[in-house]
Amino acid sequence: MISNLIDKKDIDLEKILNMYVGHNGSLIPILQATQEIYGYLPKEAMKKIANFLKLPYSEVYGVATFYAQFRLQPRGKHIIRVCSGTACHVRGGDNILKLIEEELGIKSGETTADLRFTIEPVACLGACGLAPVVMIDEQTFGRVTKDKISKLLDQFQ
Ligand code: FES
Repeated sequence: MISNLIDKKDIDLEKILNMYVGHNGSLIPILQATQEIYGYLPKEAMKKIANFLKLPYSEVYGVATFYAQFRLQPRGKHIIRVCSGTACHVRGGDNILKLIEEELGIKSGETTADLRFTIEPVACLGACGLAPVVMIDEQTFGRVTKDKISKLLDQFQ
């Protein structure tokens, strides 16, 4: 099943590359389309792109690491955003982030080994009255306390 998915993504990448035959300077749009397919930029995909564009791999890698929009690691099934805006900071948001990091054994910006969660840094989530605020996928949780964290995470399998 997983290999079928990977194969399909590889085929999609081939299609994308074919769309750019003869287009110079198309590295960034190709990287964007590739990230759409895989959710990040796998090394093998970047090698294919380098081959296709006749560029050194180091140049493709360099561009991928330069722009914040590109991810070199897969993202988790669930994205956790812990607000680091002023209101949340004042009400202990940093501590909530630290506790979530400890609970999952990863740092902000990282993904758990089982690909269940990714923690992404974020500024104000626009719900300052509910500080400290945590967003998991599309759901927003306000007035998060230390005691609520485990239960909160358990909801997302
Ligand atoms: S500062 Fe956290 S929601 Fe605005």
